[in-house]
Amino acid sequence: MKVLHVQGGATLRGTIRVSGSKNAALPILAAALLTDKACTFHNVPALSDVRFMCEILKSLGTEVSHLGPNSIRIQAKTLVPHAPYELVRKMRASVCLMGPLLGRMRSCIISLPGGCVLGPRPIDLHLKGFSKLGCTLEMKNGYLHLDASHLQGANIFLGGRQGSTVTGTANILTAAVLAPGITRIECAACEPEVTDLCHMLVKMGAKIEGIGSPSLVVEGVSTLHGCEHTIIPDRIEAGTFLIAGLLAGDQLRIENLNPLHLHAVLDKLEEGKACFEVDYAKGIIVASNSRGSIRPLEIVTLPYPGFPTDLQAQMATLMAFTPGMSLITERIYNNRFMYVPELQRMGANIALEGATAIVNGQVKLSGAHVMASDLRASASLFLAALASEGETFIHRIYHLDRGYEDFDKKLEAVGVTLKRVEADHLPDSSLPSETA
Ligand code: EPZ
Repeated sequence: MKVLHVQGGATLRGTIRVSGSKNAALPILAAALLTDKACTFHNVPALSDVRFMCEILKSLGTEVSHLGPNSIRIQAKTLVPHAPYELVRKMRASVCLMGPLLGRMRSCIISLPGGCVLGPRPIDLHLKGFSKLGCTLEMKNGYLHLDASHLQGANIFLGGRQGSTVTGTANILTAAVLAPGITRIECAACEPEVTDLCHMLVKMGAKIEGIGSPSLVVEGVSTLHGCEHTIIPDRIEAGTFLIAGLLAGDQLRIENLNPLHLHAVLDKLEEGKACFEVDYAKGIIVASNSRGSIRPLEIVTLPYPGFPTDLQAQMATLMAFTPGMSLITERIYNNRFMYVPELQRMGANIALEGATAIVNGQVKLSGAHVMASDLRASASLFLAALASEGETFIHRIYHLDRGYEDFDKKLEAVGVTLKRVEADHLPDSSLPSETA
């Protein structure tokens, strides 16, 4: 198992280019199942989750060709609508296959996705939407058997206890585009990744109104054709690197992003007087170390356009280095503070009170051995390692590779000293003095 060894104290200078969005790419690749024609996608991030989605698509009978490092051609001439447990359990986002399989094949057998460290990941809203569209569902031996032979447009309210559902909206959309009649989706997710999916579906011949709004209207069509589509930049990757710049940058330039996709985050950082400039026209943000100037903040995560839960952990790290008391409340997931005990090992002063992290920031943290629990937690630990004194060893670093393309190369190019080492070959200096 690899460990990421990070040398703290670097100053980040130069340019980081943002890759394509993981959370746009995954439902978009799945939506290629809606046609037997070829679909070509560009700016697809080379991530373990994307490679995994391609494996699942191949297991369903789809032809997947890599045209370049970030271009993929998918053609589902024939399909076996059965997604097995051993594949689905490894990536929750495989639930995005349900909608396209129901739209195209009128049936789907898929293993229920397990939960994950963020807590139970229910799909009750997905299933409610499918039922409204006339699907029947049966649970057998951990598999969901869905029959959509009577698929029909419907009026669907898709809001749940935490508001809208991103992949739930993607699933209902990709079934509705081939459902006879009109489907109205209220409380649809408005994340840019859902909007990107809508744009791709329209290129395939789908009829969708209200794109980008919580009220989507779909007029079903009989077939869809192929398309060529470029995936939007990853706003969460961009936000992660922006925070890296605010912790340890000297005019760190982050390019190839849409700043409007980060509006809530930029607004918060402006409220805190952080040092960064935005060029909205060119899609560039330039950030510098703000640890001495940024003010403590109060943050609540919400569905888009609110503050994104996927940047909650990274923001907590920034606040851990910001003198004063900050409050970070997580409204989307039950358990998205697993990074907190790891930051505490580095000296962070954070107390958890229900859904809120109370962060008493201070300027100095020290490097340590820490354990990544999930994708965004691993990013928050890396950011802490950047700004801490000494060396940090981030165990289970594979989590990071799910969502950050060419991470090590991008960070080394702007001055960070990092390398991957085997967990059982850690240099002696890494061990606590009493055991060295
Ligand atoms: C997507 O997950 C993203 N993943 C997540 O990013 C992101 O955190 C999340 O949206 C929220 O923005 C992908 O797009 C692949 P939800 P998704 O359905 O669609 C509850 C990352 O780090 N809910 O919007 O699974 C759910 O439990 C990942 O890149 C129900 O109750 O999230 C959660 O509390 C992590 N019933 C809330 O809604 C349902 O049927 C939002 O979930 C569905 C969801």
